[in-house]
Amino acid sequence: MGIYLDNAATSFPKPNKVSEAVYDFMVNNGTSSGRGSYKKAMESDYIVYETRKLIGELFNFKNPKNVIFTSNITESINIVLRGILKEGDHVITSSIEHNAVWRTLKTLEKEIKINISIAKCDNYGFVDINDIKELIREDTSLIIFNAASNVIGTIQPIKEIGKIARDNKIPFVVDGAQSCGAYPIDINEDNIDILTFTGHKSLLGPMGTGGIIINCDYDINPLKTGGTGGDSSYEYQVDYYPNKLETGTLNVGGICGLREGVKFIKKEGIENIHNKEKELTSYALKKLEDVKDIIIYGPKDCDKITSVISFNIKNKKAEEIAHILDRKFNIMVRAGLHCSPLAHKVIGTNEIGTVRIGIGYFNTKEDIDKLIYGLNNL
Ligand SMILES: Cc1ncc(COP(=O)(O)O)c(C=O)c1O
Repeated sequence: MGIYLDNAATSFPKPNKVSEAVYDFMVNNGTSSGRGSYKKAMESDYIVYETRKLIGELFNFKNPKNVIFTSNITESINIVLRGILKEGDHVITSSIEHNAVWRTLKTLEKEIKINISIAKCDNYGFVDINDIKELIREDTSLIIFNAASNVIGTIQPIKEIGKIARDNKIPFVVDGAQSCGAYPIDINEDNIDILTFTGHKSLLGPMGTGGIIINCDYDINPLKTGGTGGDSSYEYQVDYYPNKLETGTLNVGGICGLREGVKFIKKEGIENIHNKEKELTSYALKKLEDVKDIIIYGPKDCDKITSVISFNIKNKKAEEIAHILDRKFNIMVRAGLHCSPLAHKVIGTNEIGTVRIGIGYFNTKEDIDKLIYGLNNL
């Protein structure tokens, strides 16, 4: 297969039980959840319920009904932003967001004239808490930040930002794409009102899974309407979670896989996973620094970042480096803007992009050594 170092895009490999569970469900069950009352359908209901519960527990959240499944975090973010924001509302975000947040906000700016204020990040990707305080207005209706950058890994002070939002009674939404499953998050301690997640990255589940954890009473208008399996004679979308935001047949096969991903994380211990990835990241940072003509972006400190590192090599195109690493050394890394042009403005690479490595739980120091060998022999 080669050496996979693109875990920030999607994690690979997955624990064996993830694919086994998807296969087992498709072969031995295959029924819809929330619809039928025969035994197999009840099993399907239970799988979905247990997965809601396990995901909630991972973030110290005790209300499985408020764990909503979606097809990925992009859908989650769309549901939340479009469900809360109204014409002319004011929103605060950061200058390092992924397009899942940024394009959705820009689209809403065009469609319903929301006003966007940006808390500027420094060269290392950190926002200044005081800037956020200053940006708050009377009509601020939402604050949204990623917990960690997908380009330079910077971990934001989410707890402090959440406290400001709470003090001002403004819904605080977190894009947890790079964080959920990678390091401990406590939805209450970290003052998060709405946590959005994707299933296929550090949660180790299959693509096509994601969700929203709603830890507040703010109203979210449903983006989609349709069948929910219950209250069918009622002509409008029901007003209770999860059905209010979860319409149409669920990806129960995918959810089976996600359940195993989350069980794996619980069994290994999220602290242990985090520590192993930190150790590999620290090792990679140290080794990369010795590569001739390399420029490494972001905080070069494994305590301040997730296991994502962006770099360039002077006089070489990022795409060319990634291409040679793949074709000559069978090493998979990403090159370009990584769906986050804003982050590249922060580090000054919006014209050239970066090479990005995303280290995962199943990588080894040997993988890093081979990467370094490849970079030294391009
Ligand atoms: C910070 C961040 N937000 C959102 C996304 C979008 O994730 P998905 O494609 O699973 O919806 C990503 C994926 O790279 C990400 O890194």
